[in-house]
Amino acid sequence: MTEQKTWSQRFESALHPAIARFNASIGFDIELIEYDLTGSVAHAKMLAHTGIISESEAQQLVAGLEQIRQEYREGNFNPGIDAEDVHFAVERRLTEITGDVGKKLHTARSRNDQVGTDTRLYLRDQISQIRSQLREFQGVLINLAQNHVETLIPGYTHLQRAQPVSLAHHLLAYFQMLERDWERLGEVYQRVNVSPLGSGALAGTTFPIDRHYTAKLLNFDGVYANSMDGVSDRDFAIEFLCSASLIMVHLSRLSEEVILWSSHEFGFVTLKDSCATGSSIMPQKKNPDVPELVRGKTGRVFGHLQGMLVLMKGLPLAYNKDLQDDKESLFDSVKTVKGCLEAMTILFREGLEFRTARLAEAVAEDFSNATDVADYLAARGVPFREAYNLVGKVVKTSLAAGKLLKDLSLDEWKELHPAFEPDIYEAISPRQVVAARNSYGGTGFEQVRQAIQAAQSRLSNQE
Ligand code: ARG
Repeated sequence: MTEQKTWSQRFESALHPAIARFNASIGFDIELIEYDLTGSVAHAKMLAHTGIISESEAQQLVAGLEQIRQEYREGNFNPGIDAEDVHFAVERRLTEITGDVGKKLHTARSRNDQVGTDTRLYLRDQISQIRSQLREFQGVLINLAQNHVETLIPGYTHLQRAQPVSLAHHLLAYFQMLERDWERLGEVYQRVNVSPLGSGALAGTTFPIDRHYTAKLLNFDGVYANSMDGVSDRDFAIEFLCSASLIMVHLSRLSEEVILWSSHEFGFVTLKDSCATGSSIMPQKKNPDVPELVRGKTGRVFGHLQGMLVLMKGLPLAYNKDLQDDKESLFDSVKTVKGCLEAMTILFREGLEFRTARLAEAVAEDFSNATDVADYLAARGVPFREAYNLVGKVVKTSLAAGKLLKDLSLDEWKELHPAFEPDIYEAISPRQVVAARNSYGGTGFEQVRQAIQAAQSRLSNQE
């Protein structure tokens, strides 16, 4: 088609086709179209409200914009490279629909404040969706925790068996991480939800616009106080990417646990067929693809954060075309986080089963009750460090004899220290070892039940 120049008569020849392709963002910023239309509707209404255009002109603009929305939703609005970006594409179609009135839409506005507005409207919406996904996943973790308060699982430090814990306690640790993610996104939302619209290209506008009016129509909590900051700030996007990265850190850690737990070596969970795949060559394999993909996709979100930081660091005020490159990384991060949250929610809701018999075996087959022997003596007046050393000795001799602590006879215990009584056996049973850690925030069953209640009330109170 003949090149229809969207900018001024100043230009004498059309863009080189390769440069047009290179310059165009329509291939990805079409993602913003609904937000672009919503922002433009508010802008048109403001233009009439302030008398810059007439009521009837504004009505035609709004009707035209809504028609484009309809066309887009029905799959009938597919602008090509020649439109350059979503903003030009909409304006061009609007002018086709409404004639000359359409050419008034861009009065007192620049694509610079427009794209900033669109991006904020988009991100605000996405943040709300991600926050509800976090809530959903947290709900799934609580349900699972409720079923497993008294299921014991080895607790690790340095990936060495340390002390057994309630499986619910382990799962609730992730509930807490996700709770912080939820809160953090709420804080980021506040800084996303500020309107740059009306900043113009960079310096404001000669028209008597009302920025607070558009901000109110678009449900922004406030307006940027400085037009140059308004068009060039992307802090809000970086903050979002930081929060998204932390969500991915948490999902990735949990993924790593599931991958370990589902291995033959651990054998703590079985993956259901609905959430695992086989190997094309080894018929016995069942692979933990979901957590592996989540762990893998974490890297790209970190990369997008780094990319955005570097994108911004050298930019002089105000708008620079570099900023067009903020979008793909933002969109990809949003899609990645949403996809990973959805997959993990399904995995934990219905895709895995804890092998409770194997877990019960696991917590009984090691020396993770050694601290409890030391605590036993310390509670009976032996200084803790002395008790610790005694127990170290008995662990060593038991290991050499191929025995566990529960296999020692009362005589052997008494030989080690006269303070030992028959109740030592109960004190070092895995159940008691867990139950006894009833300090606030600990794994004792009472604490865990309270933690579940507290988690439930957070979910119901804070929507
Ligand atoms: N497509 C552009 C972007 O995403 C819109 C703003 C263009 N502004 C400009 N002065 N060229 O950033």
